Amino acid sequence: MRSVIKGIGSYLPDRVMTNQEMSELVETSDSWIQERTGICERHIAAEGQYTSDLGYEAARVALEHAGLTSKDIDLIVVATSTPDLTFPATATIIQEKLGMHHGAAFDIQAVCSGFIYGMHVTNALIRAGGAKRAILIGAETFSRILDWTDRGTCVLFGDGAGAVVLEAVEGDEGGVLKTFVRSDGAHRDMLYVDGGPSRTQTVGHLRMLGNQVFKHAVTDIAQVIRDCAEQAEVEVSDIDWFVPHQANQRILNAVAKRLKLRPEQVISTVAHHANTSAASVPLAMDVAVKDGRIKKGDLVMLEAFGGGFTWGAALLRY
Ligand code: ACO
Repeated sequence: MRSVIKGIGSYLPDRVMTNQEMSELVETSDSWIQERTGICERHIAAEGQYTSDLGYEAARVALEHAGLTSKDIDLIVVATSTPDLTFPATATIIQEKLGMHHGAAFDIQAVCSGFIYGMHVTNALIRAGGAKRAILIGAETFSRILDWTDRGTCVLFGDGAGAVVLEAVEGDEGGVLKTFVRSDGAHRDMLYVDGGPSRTQTVGHLRMLGNQVFKHAVTDIAQVIRDCAEQAEVEVSDIDWFVPHQANQRILNAVAKRLKLRPEQVISTVAHHANTSAASVPLAMDVAVKDGRIKKGDLVMLEAFGGGFTWGAALLRY
């Protein structure tokens, strides 16, 4: 049994916030943000619009793209670090919004690597016969956990959601070929949120030692791509497309240089989406599928790095 992507979709809130607007909030400039990160603008969820609303919209588009309805789905997995509530899982809230009263739904929390972790788990469940058709969603409202007075972090993030429909298909051709995930809790102080139900009974704000995270990200992403390709018995040079987590254009460029990738093989949406954490990989992939770059049969490597640290990669034949 293999899991094959049957549909993909994404959603961005209407409100676009430019770097110019950022410079009215904190001491920064459009040129600093663009030079250091490649980010020009980000989308911000409206008041009263929650992670489940963004995830629901992305799931709806992915179902439509697959030519399916929620009746055909028996599993919903949501990767998020900004759930609507501490519990229940945002996945169950989306399940209800989709009108589903069957199947199962749960959340996964691996920060910016959440979508890759979600693919790792969903793929394993499908292969083991635990689900026939799943919606895997990455959805975030990071704007809600930013310290809007900290210029080192608030300029980097945005809100959004992306989703794929994965279907169990018999045979050994195509679909998700390999997933490989890693973590190392020793670095958790470099990137974390300083609140939570058990420690502080608050939601907290994102804290990051950006330049330290940057160095780890480049090294670990390059290695995990090599490891994932090796385990799938594929040469990195044979991969058609790379869909990275969209944290910073300089990270994308540095990884591409290490792995000798052509810049045009690397899908980049960071300029317009900023870092949408677990949503960034499916958001970027949706753009490249819908504009015709990623075609049926192409070999695609997804990868991400985030808080924990967590990191990972997934190789698939689209
Ligand atoms: N505008 C202007 N100046 C700024 C800003 C800003 N928005 N932010 C920081 N600066 C200043 C700093 O205060 C510092 O000033 P100083 O030299 O006077 O002290 C100077 O710029 C340099 O700061 P650095 O942090 O060394 O800048 P760097 O080139 O490393 O860029 C950045 C910072 C963009 C955060 C970068 O380090 C980065 O992108 N890191 C990786 C982030 C990432 O990958 N996150 C992924 C995971 S996110 C997740 O999992 C939730």
